[in-house]
Amino acid sequence: MFKSPTTHSRIAVIGTNYVGLVTAACLARLGHTVIGVDVDALKVGRLQRGQLPIFEPDLEDIVREQLAAGRLRFTLDYAEALSGAEVAFVCVGTPAGVDGEPDMRQVQSATASLAKLTPAGAYLVVVNKSTMPVGTGQWMQMTLNAHARRTGARFSVVSNPEFLREGSAVSDFLHPDRIVVGGEDSAAVEQVATLYAGLQSTPIVRTDTRTAEMIKYASNAFLATKISFINEMATICERVGADVKDVAQGMGLDQRIGPRFLSAGVGYGGSCFPKDVMALERLATGAGVEPRVLRAVMDTNQYMRQAVVDNLRTEMQWFHGLRVGILGLAFKADTDDVRESPALDIARTLLDEGAHVRAYDPAAMGNAARLLPELELCADAYAAVEDADVVLVLTEWPEFKALDYARVHNSMRQAVLVDGRNLLDSGALQALGFRYRGIGRGRGPETQAETQLVPSRALIAA
Ligand SMILES: NC(=O)c1ccc[n+]([C@@H]2O[C@H](COP(=O)([O-])OP(=O)(O)OC[C@H]3O[C@@H](n4cnc5c(N)ncnc54)[C@H](O)[C@@H]3O)[C@@H](O)[C@H]2O)c1
Repeated sequence: MFKSPTTHSRIAVIGTNYVGLVTAACLARLGHTVIGVDVDALKVGRLQRGQLPIFEPDLEDIVREQLAAGRLRFTLDYAEALSGAEVAFVCVGTPAGVDGEPDMRQVQSATASLAKLTPAGAYLVVVNKSTMPVGTGQWMQMTLNAHARRTGARFSVVSNPEFLREGSAVSDFLHPDRIVVGGEDSAAVEQVATLYAGLQSTPIVRTDTRTAEMIKYASNAFLATKISFINEMATICERVGADVKDVAQGMGLDQRIGPRFLSAGVGYGGSCFPKDVMALERLATGAGVEPRVLRAVMDTNQYMRQAVVDNLRTEMQWFHGLRVGILGLAFKADTDDVRESPALDIARTLLDEGAHVRAYDPAAMGNAARLLPELELCADAYAAVEDADVVLVLTEWPEFKALDYARVHNSMRQAVLVDGRNLLDSGALQALGFRYRGIGRGRGPETQAETQLVPSRALIAA
């Protein structure tokens, strides 16, 4: 399926969760010899037995296949991972820290380990896949150089940001739209580009370290902007009696706009967009730039979560004693990741205000239970909606589309359905007797009658 690169490298991958594990498994699939190193003993133990710490389609098969082929191993021991390695990919976390600045402790710790445990006299290309503020690569180069003076090791730091999406991470890694490689040492940049030789006809953007770091932030900020933009259009649609789904379709067919990331909903979440937009906002502010667009993007995203709760309050009058069924806890479909998930925020607010909340998610319940233990979790969607006054659909899992909604209707106390992802067929649900509330679905006799539309001043004047 993939062209095997003519040269196979010995690669260490530092950090073996979403990005690190996908990187390690896929690089092994491309023919390289890969050893993943992590500080989490439980995770490493499980990985050595072929058990994954995350849910990600197709990943388990590749990990097991590559473990069996002897091209992939996992260890807790940096010295073992770095012995003989030509390249080390840094894939540790860069979560949001205080005041929105990224928390760089994992990167600092990985850099210290690289400095200390790279064998004396070795030459190592250090590849930053983690999303890091502009300037981090140069800081790492200087830090490693300072240590290298004592050990005689040599390092070249290259930025190679990752663009995979959870839920389709393997496919994204093996069929990327582009590969970005940034560095000041052109030989090291070429060495990294060559690692991907098995991925034919993928454009490679070669640039300097700071620009590569910036490409990653700019890409995520743009996608987040698209989401907040359509969400603001949805809010307007709701007030003026228009349907944002048709608006998005009508916009998206314009090739300059494109249809993707134009699904209105309760907003973006996950481990990347929220922290990366905030980090870029901080970076800009630190550089003396007023990031007006980025602030509006974050503000709109926060507003969408709150608006769902506020609209529900208007609809149901009070939350105390209200029985709520939540379908979907992951921040999006096909992942078990609940980091910054709008669903958890909404559930937390409802619980705080005295609602009785029961929830179901096909993959994310274990992670949700750790973050929100007071949430009652159910074995399936039907159990979560039983006796509910209102059902909230908060993740676009395909299985929620396929539910028997007549059964759902019959088992509820009151049939209010808030479709926070515009996933369902509003007409069919209304025909079944649901009070259906989507995001930005202002069309239809019921909602248009409620719309107090003030004609434009130009019309009145005419
Ligand atoms: N998750 C995504 O969809 C995605 C996509 C693109 C880029 N990124 C970026 O990639 C990076 C990693 O993301 P993630 O979601 O995989 O992070 P994560 O927090 O899920 O995983 C980080 C892993 O690194 C390990 N680790 C921490 N410190 C370590 C150390 N000193 N040495 C070795 N291992 C260590 C942790 O135990 C954990 O397994 C982040 O910068 C993120 O912004 C993530």
